[in-house]
Amino acid sequence: MKICSVIGARPQFVKAGAVSRALKQDGRIEEVLIHTGQHYDFNMSEVFFREFDLAAPRHNLGVGSGRHGAQTGKMLEGLEEVFLSERPDLVLVYGDTNSTLAGALAAAKLHVPIAHVEAGLRSFNRAMPEEINRIVADGVSDVLFAPTDVAAAQLRREGHPEERIVWTGDVMYDAALMTADVARSRSRVLDALGLQDGGYYLATVHRAENTDDVRRLASIVESLATVAETHPVVLPLHPRTRAALERSGLLARAEQALRLVEPVGFVDMVRLEMGALAVASDSGGVQKEAFFYGVPCFVLRDETEWVELVDAGWNTLVPPGDAAAMATVMLARDASRRREVRPYGDGNASGVIVAELARRLGA
Ligand code: UD1
Ligand code: UDP
Repeated sequence: MKICSVIGARPQFVKAGAVSRALKQDGRIEEVLIHTGQHYDFNMSEVFFREFDLAAPRHNLGVGSGRHGAQTGKMLEGLEEVFLSERPDLVLVYGDTNSTLAGALAAAKLHVPIAHVEAGLRSFNRAMPEEINRIVADGVSDVLFAPTDVAAAQLRREGHPEERIVWTGDVMYDAALMTADVARSRSRVLDALGLQDGGYYLATVHRAENTDDVRRLASIVESLATVAETHPVVLPLHPRTRAALERSGLLARAEQALRLVEPVGFVDMVRLEMGALAVASDSGGVQKEAFFYGVPCFVLRDETEWVELVDAGWNTLVPPGDAAAMATVMLARDASRRREVRPYGDGNASGVIVAELARRLGA
């Protein structure tokens, strides 16, 4: 039995880091990794292959950056070729990026069964490119691996047949647990940046709705600058955000007020998350990882797919726009509503996925 896994953007390397390891340990299914080339800088791609000991992709399409249509179109063309030559029994796609969309569509057109890891997430905001990618990927998938109860319920509400929906827990929780000890013992990032455990905020920003809207981006920079008057704010800068800050003339202000660093590898990222007093982020992955390590997160968005953490009082939506109001919320760190919850399983989502794939493929 053979599957092709399509990955291409940073969070997919983390998710594959957990699932590919479980596939290898299980041994019943051969996995061929296909990298679309959506992310290509060393610290946006290769570093994760090294840290997770992921096999080198058998195919790298080298698609690179571009507008949605052009980027997705190149991926479709390349993936079709690869699927025709590899003849997989199933294609595995992850999350909600353009690489997910292309992997799912290319496979669907060739009548290859598709499994979608992280199915059923919705922001109910179709202006987000990711929302379109999720809806299409779920629509053409044969196996819908839902990470949470909320996601599984959403798939049912949309009328997806029951036999397609499999609750798994979150593979990012698996990756977070796998990496915690390594980060604690090996990462030197706090020393390198002169930071103390519990003494700083960690921020990440990269969503199109924040980087491509100068007013929102400026409010994020200014609100974090206010926070930085009392605690250092470390911001590993996504290349998209660096470009947007440069374009909009905000880079100098951000450099002066915040600790801007290049994107970091996963081990250092986990260490930064663990040690933070609080996290401020528009990232899907980072807002959960903060919770995995018991750190509250301010979600720099108008809505989130990971609603269970907002409901449980760990995460707080901080819609960009009014810098002063944002800073007030982020500095208050109100802990009164936090409840103990375990919405993401027990760290074995990858095991559930592998067992289910093996069962369905008759491996
Ligand atoms: C993509 C995903 C987003 C995901 C994010 C994870 C889509 C539509 N978006 O957004 O859902 O949360 O990845 O990080 O698929 N760039 C580089 N070097 C790189 C990669 C990107 O310089 O290695 C720059 C380029 O200028 C590029 C820009 O970043 O145009 C955006 O990259 P792209 O992959 O199109 O989207 P992301 O914003 O990274
Ligand atoms: N991440 C990382 N280094 C960084 C920023 C993020 O290793 O400098 C990791 C983060 O811990 C998480 C994943 O990348 O596991 C999330 O990716 P990103 O925020 O780019 O995408 P999203 O999750 O929003 O789709």
